[in-house]
Amino acid sequence: MTHDPSDAAIEALYLESRTFPPPAEFKAQALVTQAAVYDEAEADWQGYWARQAADLLDWDEEWHTILEWDRPFAKWFVGGRLNVSVNCLDRHVAAGLGDRVAYHWEGEPGDTRTITYAELLDEVQRFANVLSGLGVGRGDRVAIYMPMIPELPVAMLACTRIGAAHSVVFGGFSSDALRDRINDAEAKVLVTADGGWRKGRANLLKPAADVAVADTPSITDVVVVRRVGEPVEMREGRDHWWHEEMGKVAATCEPVSMGAEDLLYLLYTSGTTAKPKGIMHTTGGYLTQVAHTHKYVFDLKADRDVYWCAADIGWVTGHSYIVYGPLANGATSVLYEGAPDHPDKDRWWSIVERYGVTILYCAPTAIRACMKWGAEWPQRHDLSSLRLLGSVGEPINPEAWMWYHTHIGGGRCPVVDTWWQTETGAIMISPLPGATTTKPGSATFPLPGIAAEVVDEQGRPVGEGGGYLTLTRPWPSMLRGIWGDPERYEQTYWSRFPDRYFAGDGAKLDADGYLWLLGRVDDVMNVSGHRVSTTEVESALVDHPTVAEAAVVGARDETTGQAIVAFVTLRGGVTADAEHGEALRAHVADKIGRFGRPKTVIFTDDLPKTRSGKIMRRLLRDVAEGRDLGDTTTLADPAVVDEIRRRAVATP
Ligand code: WT7
Repeated sequence: MTHDPSDAAIEALYLESRTFPPPAEFKAQALVTQAAVYDEAEADWQGYWARQAADLLDWDEEWHTILEWDRPFAKWFVGGRLNVSVNCLDRHVAAGLGDRVAYHWEGEPGDTRTITYAELLDEVQRFANVLSGLGVGRGDRVAIYMPMIPELPVAMLACTRIGAAHSVVFGGFSSDALRDRINDAEAKVLVTADGGWRKGRANLLKPAADVAVADTPSITDVVVVRRVGEPVEMREGRDHWWHEEMGKVAATCEPVSMGAEDLLYLLYTSGTTAKPKGIMHTTGGYLTQVAHTHKYVFDLKADRDVYWCAADIGWVTGHSYIVYGPLANGATSVLYEGAPDHPDKDRWWSIVERYGVTILYCAPTAIRACMKWGAEWPQRHDLSSLRLLGSVGEPINPEAWMWYHTHIGGGRCPVVDTWWQTETGAIMISPLPGATTTKPGSATFPLPGIAAEVVDEQGRPVGEGGGYLTLTRPWPSMLRGIWGDPERYEQTYWSRFPDRYFAGDGAKLDADGYLWLLGRVDDVMNVSGHRVSTTEVESALVDHPTVAEAAVVGARDETTGQAIVAFVTLRGGVTADAEHGEALRAHVADKIGRFGRPKTVIFTDDLPKTRSGKIMRRLLRDVAEGRDLGDTTTLADPAVVDEIRRRAVATP
């Protein structure tokens, strides 16, 4: 634990006293309106989850044991068998809903596609046959590196049909990051595209995929979707065009019945070390909890709602709330490829108006960007279809909450601030919009069936006040481990506080029992709702031949929540100027991806260290945020700090 959430942030939250009970009109139609559901779930929490699994999913075989808990290893619905693609597609089509729209897809240039459940099932079966034809079978891993196009969920669901696990790598990651993830998972096949559209430009993926695959011995074949139409190199015998392969295969593919605990997917996330962790999610528990939370947190009426989660499928939010939750529930979703400000700053609101979006789920960073652009952009559009708003990915400040509520929700839509993580798989802490009185900036309470506690340094529950957020018992969609590293799993999540899962977040419990999430307390930054490891950025920097030493901190940022600030010591003879700062930023983008690029590079002759040689990140954060330094007596050389301040050069 290197720092506490800032005192200023806590104080600001203490002043927040507005409350918003569910609006009467919303409550009158809501799925859940009574707080009694919490007590009912609490009385028999395992039974509660078993009821959800039975109600929400179709099983080939029922489980014999709800939960086997061999701390910290959980197995849910043991003995149960099911297929995810059948639950997401076949059963809806069989129920006569084949013509229901699964996705209203919109490309950034304005091209559109409407995909019904029947069409999605058809494509998924075909692509499952393509994968089988390439030798992919049960238990194999398939890497996916794609833009936000319909072929992305098709590829994911095709994996689930034949029992392969996918590992989706966000399209913003670099070739190095892709290569490392493929090698860690030993994926057999890579599915990618020539590129995708972003801010009016073709963001090419295939060239990066080629660089990665030059160094991934496990990959035998690459399937490429033609999206942007740029010429790409296709290696004979290895690379295949998606559209050509889809024409060659049979239209039906028998689903493989999977065990509830079989691996569904890996998703890599950044931790406090330089090596990302392959988070493992399995089949039955994961699908149960994503379907459950998608239905009740968003008060979903699948036959009427038009739901839009404006995240990227490359992150867990997209896995759980663009693909698996909505499809398991037979929902109609919007899928949008590009940037929120292309061609103009009202792109999102034009989409809401055009498709009649009723439920919108996005990140505070996007809301803050919209605040900055001004309310005139949403005002140009009819947003009266909206009835519920969700927030995810980082703490939402009360100002952004109020702006979202007022300017997007027209004051009539409940706002659900949902706390969860890649590791939790599904939403854990959130209001139930028809039952919970909200407070701007608070994620309110653990959902029914979930147990969380805020504890102090010694692991003792705090009655009221600040501390560390812990989860006190297993939940169905919890990570089952870290791919290839069970010890790291135990060490990272279950060792800081005995018998508790430690999420890495600070939290405050107020006098009414509301939870206020305060951000990470470890060396993980949250930039625009994306997790970035300080250590990963540091090792990317020291990988540059001119860098002797680097320390990276997340400094508070008005729009992105945190911004990456790098303090860099150069080797002798290298000029510390803005141009070199730019070169270092580009180097990090190459190593990790564009979202890991520092916003600011500060050159310094030395870094402040404790007597034992540890870099004092807290102090650097204070410098980066321009705050008073307080006590610096544990510094090896207090002059270093003055030096840092004096020499600070910001790179635009
Ligand atoms: C970290 C997890 C959840 C999917 C997207 C991010 C922060 C997430 C909230 C929220 C305050 C939040 C936490 C968490 N976080 N949601 N509603 N309020 N903080 O997934 O990349 O695994 O990051 O995001 O710090 O630990 P992730």
